[in-house]
Amino acid sequence: MTLRAPLGLAGLRRTHGCGELRPEHAGGRVTLFGWVQRRRDHGGLIFVDLRDRTGLVQLVFNPATGEAAFAEAGKLRSEYVVAVVGQVRPRARDRVNPNLATGEVEVFPDEVRILNPARTPPLPVEDRIDVDEAVRLRYRYLDLRRAPLQSNLLLRHRVAKAVRDFFDRQGFVEVETPFLTRSTPEGARDYLVPSRVHPGRFYALPQSPQLFKQILMVAGLERYFQIVRCFRDEDLRADRQPEFTQIDVELSFADAGDVLDLTEAMIVEVYRRVLGVSVERPFPRLAYREAMARFGTDKPDLRFGLELFDLTPLAAASGFRVFRRSAEEGGVVKGIRAPGLGGLSRKEMEAFDGVVRPFGAPGVLWLAVGTDGVRSPARQHLSDGEVQEILTRAGATAGDLVLIVAGAADVVHASLGALRLEVARRLGLTERTATNGSGALRFCWVVEFPLLEYSAEEGRWVAVHHPFTAPLDEDEAFLESDPARVRAKAYDLVLNGVELGGGSVRIHRRDLQERVFKVLGLEETEAAAKFGFLLEAFEYGTPPHAGIALGLDRLVMMMAGAASLRDVIAFPKTASATDLLTGAPAEVSPAQLRELRLKLSDGR
Ligand code: AMO
Repeated sequence: MTLRAPLGLAGLRRTHGCGELRPEHAGGRVTLFGWVQRRRDHGGLIFVDLRDRTGLVQLVFNPATGEAAFAEAGKLRSEYVVAVVGQVRPRARDRVNPNLATGEVEVFPDEVRILNPARTPPLPVEDRIDVDEAVRLRYRYLDLRRAPLQSNLLLRHRVAKAVRDFFDRQGFVEVETPFLTRSTPEGARDYLVPSRVHPGRFYALPQSPQLFKQILMVAGLERYFQIVRCFRDEDLRADRQPEFTQIDVELSFADAGDVLDLTEAMIVEVYRRVLGVSVERPFPRLAYREAMARFGTDKPDLRFGLELFDLTPLAAASGFRVFRRSAEEGGVVKGIRAPGLGGLSRKEMEAFDGVVRPFGAPGVLWLAVGTDGVRSPARQHLSDGEVQEILTRAGATAGDLVLIVAGAADVVHASLGALRLEVARRLGLTERTATNGSGALRFCWVVEFPLLEYSAEEGRWVAVHHPFTAPLDEDEAFLESDPARVRAKAYDLVLNGVELGGGSVRIHRRDLQERVFKVLGLEETEAAAKFGFLLEAFEYGTPPHAGIALGLDRLVMMMAGAASLRDVIAFPKTASATDLLTGAPAEVSPAQLRELRLKLSDGR
């Protein structure tokens, strides 16, 4: 990449990027533009680090070689924008800075022009800073000057470019779908936009282009993709933003295997082209049931084992009431082994209770294996034979800790899934590779999700993926009689425990789509009102089709080794969905509300 485009400015033409200068440039005259990183006055000389997007170079101002420039350099402060003209010289051997790409040279300017001064920045423009994130977001333009963020944005650009090139070569067409549209159900709340022309009516910002991409298949596009913004009003976490970007894909005349193959090929190509990292394929495929049983989650981190083991067969006959009760109530008893953590204090053991309580488990039973026996709060309730059986099933030996949870299967799985991650964290097994995300890359597919789950809150069955997902052929017959049993032709792509994407084979027959709507409790009239256009389209010759969407932000986050999506999005929102730079969301004028015929319930 070069910045050497003819940028004419005040009669000056930039010749090089600051970070590009190397020993072979020595002796040449260069014109540089950039920001002052720092100025140091030293022994009658002034040293200035000049920074632009390509990096840093050291300028040396010497009154003997350029008096006017030296005088001007005395005025420079951090973040001043300047142009300099000078000569590149090799540094003396003892002044070479091996930590800087330009560390073998320095520039001796004979001309310096201040293009714009700057106020003292509220945060230092340095790679590693310890500044409250609120300040960074408020002054995002300064934050973005920092090299790690610049390199994340560059990485993001390269990923998007590689994705587009890949799909283009495969015959996919990028089609833009509307933002002002109707609600697309993906399980979150919609962002609504009031219509001025139609008072009382609202557009919804799309949670995904799901309906449009299916309609594009009806329209005969056959292969669609789009790098597209999606909007979801949901509770935010480090890996969720209210607006985020999907790599959205749909194919006609394709089944699940085609989508998985295509997605794997794309991932392999993006990692190779952008990071020079080779990713192995095929990615392992796990059925949902297996993922839950072995890892307690539908997004297993396969960088480490620590698999769940099952004690349910022992529970019914156990002398321990907690186990017995769980068996009587149709629950399960399962555990994990935490290798080498047997030495934790009682207090540390009890802290594990806090990990599982959010999932509805009352607590964790622990057994610490010593060389001279087993420590456990339930030791006196368990026979020696039972303890031995637990240790055998856990594969635990002296020094290990065994953590057990009893209760309903979903509570036990969620609890142990979280404990597994906590144990892995303590053992240092989950650290992200900070350099280029090329450490352990354990991709996997989770397939055969349940099609439906019962929502006690809503008192009805809801779609696990979305209502357009097809059931497995062999399960279709149970749609009405045993909805819980029906598995979906759905798949999630998981990398190191993070869900990167999800998709499914779609329903393409109106009768089946109507049956699913019915099981979901969507009355015909309601289904017709919400999705009538889709049902109608299905009657005009719809090819079988399938697709997927990957989170671009999440993919880039993983590739960058970043801890948060905010580090790979130029202008992200806070956990409370505010933009600290612009102050959005903001109040609007009474006139605007009147024009939209909106009245706030507090009377405004
Ligand atoms: P899904 O809802 O699984 O599927 O979304 C696909 C992927 O988008 C990313 N993602 C998010 N990233 C950041 N912030 C968010 N709030 C957020 N929500 C989702 C995740 C996720 O895996 N229409 C279907 C796809 C399909 O069936 O083809 C869909 O949107 O990486």
